[in-house]
Amino acid sequence: MPSKRKKRQSLFVTFEGIDGCGKSTQLSKAGDLLDSLGYKVARLREPGSTPTAERIREILLDRNSSITDITELLLYEAARSEIVSREIGPLLKSGYIVLCDRFYDSTTAYQGYGRGLDIRMVKRLHRVATGDCIPDLTLVFDVSLKMARSRLGRSRDRLESQSKAFFSRVRNGFLQIAKTESRRVKVIDSSRPVDEVSADVEKLILRKLR
Ligand code: TMP
Repeated sequence: MPSKRKKRQSLFVTFEGIDGCGKSTQLSKAGDLLDSLGYKVARLREPGSTPTAERIREILLDRNSSITDITELLLYEAARSEIVSREIGPLLKSGYIVLCDRFYDSTTAYQGYGRGLDIRMVKRLHRVATGDCIPDLTLVFDVSLKMARSRLGRSRDRLESQSKAFFSRVRNGFLQIAKTESRRVKVIDSSRPVDEVSADVEKLILRKLR
């Protein structure tokens, strides 16, 4: 009789890119595939996925929040510290594949490259928030600003309403990160049809699981 027990294999995969790049759709499809293959799968998002981090998310995305760039940086790292210690760490220890919608590369890209904060300082804070929790695989979904913006709805949150110049710096930031950490971070052309993109995502994740 085939066993109904789920396969235990820990793997930490993060999904990154500018707003409107299609990463959340791809995360959901990857999750469904891994479920169907019998893996234990957890789907998380940043900032969020714990009660406190979801509250921090509300402050960060609220268009009425007036916060300095450093406060913004620290709030993202605070939310991250919560999700790492309460969710990601324990899930990986108990044999889950963790799929996370954004992680510290978003902070490097948005607060570092986008806001212009010192990248080394930003990276030091990642260490404080995450310890040695590093993704096994990071997928950067790359699209033009034009396509990304056309995918966003009309009601935009505080971050989504930043200027085109800001998003151009953020996109460039993700591409720089991929260049400097090419073993961990893979760029996927996300301007193609969803199924073509997800075929690449599947290949990259399954290769890591082998
Ligand atoms: P989401 O809309 O993809 O859920 O992400 C929330 C917003 O927060 C998105 O505009 C990107 C932004 N963000 C940062 O600026 N820095 C970060 O560290 C993270 C995780 C997200």
